[in-house]
Amino acid sequence: MSILLTGGLGFIGSHVAASLLEHGHDVVILDNLCNSQASVARQLELLCAKPIPFYEGDVRDNAILATIFSKHPIAAVMHFAGLKSVAQSATDPLLYFDNNVGGTITLLQAMQQHGIYQFIFSSSATVYGIPQYLPYDEVHPTCPINPYGRTKLQAEEILADLAVSDKRWAIASLRYFNPIGAHPSYTIGELPNDQPNNLMPYINQVASKQRPFLTVFGNDYDTKDGTGERDYIHVMDLAEGHVAALRLIQKSAGLHTLNLGTGQPYSVLEMIQTFEKATGQSIPMKIGPRRQGDLPIYYACADKAKVILQWEAKRTLKEMCESAWKFELQRQSLFK
Ligand code: NAD
Ligand code: WQD
Repeated sequence: MSILLTGGLGFIGSHVAASLLEHGHDVVILDNLCNSQASVARQLELLCAKPIPFYEGDVRDNAILATIFSKHPIAAVMHFAGLKSVAQSATDPLLYFDNNVGGTITLLQAMQQHGIYQFIFSSSATVYGIPQYLPYDEVHPTCPINPYGRTKLQAEEILADLAVSDKRWAIASLRYFNPIGAHPSYTIGELPNDQPNNLMPYINQVASKQRPFLTVFGNDYDTKDGTGERDYIHVMDLAEGHVAALRLIQKSAGLHTLNLGTGQPYSVLEMIQTFEKATGQSIPMKIGPRRQGDLPIYYACADKAKVILQWEAKRTLKEMCESAWKFELQRQSLFK
């Protein structure tokens, strides 16, 4: 049996594919390449030394889903295909609801038609919104503060109704915190298009002199050093969390909503210092104004995943920085 990964050539999907393959699973990948490169499929094939069926297409396209479900013995679907820019979701909300909510509905309908009921969804810590308390646990109220976050919450609500409607559904909705880092081969990693929005890819581009300095978005927050604090998680820990979630839904039906984070927040300044120490590269920076829509601090309560998945994030911030940088060094020779 195989696992279908939608968006499987993206940052998180490609690392989950690598972990699944290492654990002996077969994977099939569907990706429309709107934010990834076909050469990632080749890197995955080199890593696991076998061909990986890859379909270039859109998750909203019923016909390609029908082809995949008819041709391959798919046991479960992991749904990474989504758009993830908070800023773009505010300027083009219809694009985001169509892709992220519409895409999820089309996919779930196709699964139902083909009798496939095991589903893992890429949700986000963004669904929580302004913290009522910290760390966020899974029963924290959900009130996202941007359209992107609302697409994730709407998809989660659909999944909750689906799980109640038919007891065959076994669903894990995984709320990721801030994934960074790269595979230990350094042949897959984060490949941002254009100017990155997120902190780690931006730091990487400053370290590799593609950008002159990092702008720190505010140092007057009520946090340990005034800069924003986040729960960064190594993408390989996140990937192993998916392997554990697959084991869970193979034996336990219903909807399981789980945070995937470390429970440990770090500030922007701590990130810069750790990166500099881990890589020997200096990161020139300037303090700028706050970025609109940023929360001062949020991080996960990781206890539920520990109990339910018997999984916890193990890799340190230093390892996250080192691996991100080592991938950056190889990136230019591997990808255009
Ligand atoms: P990514 O952009 O690197 O990967 C997403 C992949 O999906 C890309 O390869 C893209 O080409 C593909 N895709 C997008 N829309 C598609 C469609 N309609 N049909 C087929 N393929 C499509 O992003 P990522 O960081 O790997 O994120 C994966 C998922 O996790 C997304 O759903 C994202 O919202 C969610 N998530 C990401 C983060 C994060 O910080 N990276 C945090 C929380 C949740
Ligand atoms: C981290 C910290 C910034 C860039 C976003 C999405 C969220 C999720 C993950 C998908 C913040 C600061 C950043 C820079 C900076 N994605 N920063 N200078 O904002 O926690 O989350 O990505 O679900 O939905 O909102 O991550 O990496 O952008 O920022 O000072 O150039 O770094 O202000 O404190 P964020 P990030």
